[in-house]
Amino acid sequence: MRITSRSVAALAAAASLFSSVHAISKISRGGRYLYDESGNRFYIKGIAYQEMSGTSVASASNPFGEPTDYIDPLSNGTACQRDLPFLQQLKVNAIRAYSVNSSLNHDACMQAFSGAGIYAIIDLSLPVNGSIDRASPAWSTNLLDLYINTIDTFSKYDNVLAFNVGNEVVIADNGTDAAPFIKAAVRDIKAYLASKGSSILVGYASIDGSSDFRTELANYLSCDPSNSGSGSTAIDLYGLNNYEWCGNSTFQASYAGVESDFSNFNVPAYFSEFGCITSPPRVWTEVAALFSPEMSPVWSGGLAFSYFPDASVQGQFGMVNISVDGSSVMTGNDFNALASQYGQVNPPNTPNQSAAGNTNYPSCPAQSATFLASSSLPPTPNDQSCQCLDTTLSCLFTPQTDNYTAIVGDLLDTGCSLLGQAGGNCNDIAGNGSTGDYGRVSFCDPPIKLSFVFSEYYQANNRNPQSCNFAGNATVNNTAPSDVSSANAAATSCFASASSVFTPTAPAGSGSLSSSASSKSPSGAVPLIGDVRALWGMGAMVVVGVASGVWTLA
Ligand SMILES: *[C@@H]1O[C@H](CO)[C@@H](O)[C@H](O)[C@H]1NC(C)=O
Ligand SMILES: *[C@@H]1O[C@H](CO)[C@@H](O)[C@H](O)[C@H]1NC(C)=O
Ligand SMILES: *[C@@H]1O[C@H](CO)[C@@H](O)[C@H](O)[C@H]1NC(C)=O
Ligand SMILES: *[C@@H]1O[C@H](CO)[C@@H](O)[C@H](O)[C@H]1NC(C)=O
Ligand SMILES: *[C@@H]1O[C@H](CO)[C@@H](O)[C@H](O)[C@H]1NC(C)=O
Ligand SMILES: *[C@@H]1O[C@H](CO)[C@@H](O)[C@H](O)[C@H]1NC(C)=O
Ligand SMILES: *[C@@H]1O[C@H](CO)[C@@H](O)[C@H](O)[C@H]1NC(C)=O
Ligand SMILES: *[C@@H]1O[C@H](CO)[C@@H](O)[C@H](O)[C@H]1NC(C)=O
Ligand SMILES: *[C@@H]1O[C@H](CO)[C@@H](O)[C@H](O)[C@H]1NC(C)=O
Ligand SMILES: *[C@@H]1O[C@H](CO)[C@@H](O)[C@H](O)[C@H]1NC(C)=O
Ligand SMILES: *[C@@H]1O[C@H](CO)[C@@H](O)[C@H](O)[C@H]1NC(C)=O
Repeated sequence: MRITSRSVAALAAAASLFSSVHAISKISRGGRYLYDESGNRFYIKGIAYQEMSGTSVASASNPFGEPTDYIDPLSNGTACQRDLPFLQQLKVNAIRAYSVNSSLNHDACMQAFSGAGIYAIIDLSLPVNGSIDRASPAWSTNLLDLYINTIDTFSKYDNVLAFNVGNEVVIADNGTDAAPFIKAAVRDIKAYLASKGSSILVGYASIDGSSDFRTELANYLSCDPSNSGSGSTAIDLYGLNNYEWCGNSTFQASYAGVESDFSNFNVPAYFSEFGCITSPPRVWTEVAALFSPEMSPVWSGGLAFSYFPDASVQGQFGMVNISVDGSSVMTGNDFNALASQYGQVNPPNTPNQSAAGNTNYPSCPAQSATFLASSSLPPTPNDQSCQCLDTTLSCLFTPQTDNYTAIVGDLLDTGCSLLGQAGGNCNDIAGNGSTGDYGRVSFCDPPIKLSFVFSEYYQANNRNPQSCNFAGNATVNNTAPSDVSSANAAATSCFASASSVFTPTAPAGSGSLSSSASSKSPSGAVPLIGDVRALWGMGAMVVVGVASGVWTLA
C-alpha cells in the first residue's frame, strides 16, 4: 500500500485540533494496575517502534548485539505520518521508542500519535555510553543529565505513558550487582518528575532471564529498602521482554510459569517485548492469552516486537518494510496476523480502581549467591561536586578525540594499575553494588574519574611532569593547588556539602534553571592520596566499557 505524505504542519494542526476536542486520557497507577481517567483498566496494546541503525554484532546469547548508533523514531513527522495508518490498522494504543535525541523536535510525531490515541513509552538510555554499563555499572552525572534532558523534551506531551530508566541492564545472576544503580536511577528520576509536577510513570524493561534472578530483580526494583512503605525508590511499571510463546502455543506451555512467578507482584507489569520468531509464521495467538482473564490479574498487556525491520541471528522480527525512498510501507503476514489478534482482544475491566487500592512496597529481597544487589543505594549524582572536583585536579584527561568513550576504559585500567603500583588505589571512583560501598567520585562522569586517577598518580610521583602524560592523553593544570594537602582539602570540600540523596535539577545549559543541591549530611570524604589499601577489585581493573543495556534480547 502506498501512502502519500501531507505536510507536517498540516498534520500537527490537525492533531492539535483533534486532541483539543478529544484529549487522550491520562493513565495512572492504582495498586498493581493501570487506569484511565474514566476508571477503566488500561492495557498496553502496543508495538516497538524503533528503526535499526548502526552496526550491531550479534551472538547466540544476544541475538541483536549492541548498536553503535541510532535513529530517533519520533523526530520525523513525515515518517510518523506515513506509519500512523498502519499503527491504526494494528489497533495499537502504545508504541515504545528505545533511543531518542533530546536536541530534536518531536512535536509532529507526538501530537500525531496523541491525536490517534497512541501513548509513547520512552527509553531514556542511549546506545554505547548512554546507559548504565552492565560490565562496570555506575549511576553518574552524565547519565542523569542525559535522562533529564530527554524528560524535559518529552514530559510536555500528553501521551507519554512511561520513561524507562534501563533495558536489560542485568542479563545474568552474576550481573545483579548492577541493580542498585538502576534503583538509584529510578529514585532520582521519580524525584525529578515529581519536582516538575509530572505523573509520568517510571519503568524498567527486564530480560526474561533465568529464574535464579528474574523475579528477585523485579521484586528488588519495586521494593522499599527503608521498610517504611515508601515507593520513592520503586519502579511504577515493570516491563518483561518475554519471548516464551513461540508459534501456536498454549498458556500452560508458555505462560503459566511467568504468571505464577509474578502472582504476588506489587506494581503494574506488562510484556515490554513479545513475539517469538523461531516457529514461523508468527500467528500471534499469545495475544489472546496475554489479554485473557488468566493473565489480566498480573499483566497489563504488552508490546509486540517490532514494527520496523529488525534483523537478528534468529531471523527477522520486523512486521513491515519501508521503501528505499522512505515513502511507503509494505506489510506482511506477521502484520496482518497481529492486526487480527489485537482486533479481537477484550480484556477484563476488573478489578475496579477502588478495589485495586494503593500500591504496597514490600521489603527488599535478601542477597544470595545468585542475587547480589545490596539494598544500600548509590547517592544522587551531583554535578556541582564533580565540577568542583575537576577544578582542583592537577593532571587532566585531555583527549585528542571527541570520541573519548572509545579510550576512557583502557586509560582507566592503565591509570588504576599504575596508581596501584605507586601505592594508591581506585576506591574513590569505584562503586560496588553488592557491598553497597560507593566511592565519593563514583557518580562523576568517566572523564572526571579519569582526571582524578591521573591526578592521584601524578601526585604520587611527586608531580613529575612525565607522570602526567598517558601517551598524550593528559595535561598538567599548572594553576591547580600544587601541594597534596591543599589538593586534598579542596577536593574534600567539593563533596563535604553534598547530600547523598536529593532532588536533581536540570543540568546547566539545558535551558532550565539549575540550583545547587541542598546540603545535609556530609559524605564520608577520604583523603585524595595516602590511602594505601589494596587496589580496588581484581588487578585494579576498572572497565568503562561500551556495553550498554539497550536493544538486547535473549
Ligand atoms: C542529536 O541531534 C543533534 C541536533 O541535530 C545532532 O547534532 C546530534 O548529532 C544528534 N545526536 C545523535 C546521537 O544522533
Ligand atoms: C557471568 O556469567 C556468564 C554466564 O552466565 C559468564 O559468561 C560471564 O563471564 C560471567 N561474568 C562474570 C563477571 O563472572
Ligand atoms: C492453534 O491451536 C488451536 C488449538 O490447538 C487451533 O484451534 C488453531 O487452529 C491453531 N491455529 C493455528 C494458526 O495453527
Ligand atoms: C523523514 O522521513 C521521510 C520519509 O521516510 C524521508 O523522506 C525524509 O528524508 C526524512 N527526513 C529527515 C530529516 O530525515
Ligand atoms: C521485508 O524484506 C525482507 C527482505 O527482502 C523480506 O525477507 C521480508 O519478508 C519483508 N517483510 C515484509 C513484511 O514485507
Ligand atoms: C469495585 O469492586 C468491588 C469488589 O468487586 C465492589 O465491592 C465495589 O462495589 C466496586 N466499586 C465500584 C465503584 O464499582
Ligand atoms: C558519550 O561519549 C561522547 C564522547 O565519546 C560524549 O560526547 C557524550 O557526552 C557521552 N555521553 C554520555 C551520556 O556520557
Ligand atoms: C568511536 O570509537 C569507537 C571505537 O573505536 C567506534 O566504534 C565508533 O564508531 C566511534 N564513534 C564515532 C562517532 O566516531
Ligand atoms: C590516548 O590513549 C589511547 C588509549 O590508550 C591511545 O590509543 C592513544 O594513542 C593515546 N594518545 C592519544 C594522543 O590519543
Ligand atoms: C585549573 O585549575 C584552576 C584552579 O583550581 C581552575 O580554576 C581551572 O578551571 C582548572 N583548569 C581546567 C582546564 O580545569
Ligand atoms: C564488590 O565487593 C565484593 C566483596 O569485596 C567483591 O567480591 C566483588 O568483586 C566486588 N565487585 C566489584 C565489581 O568490584
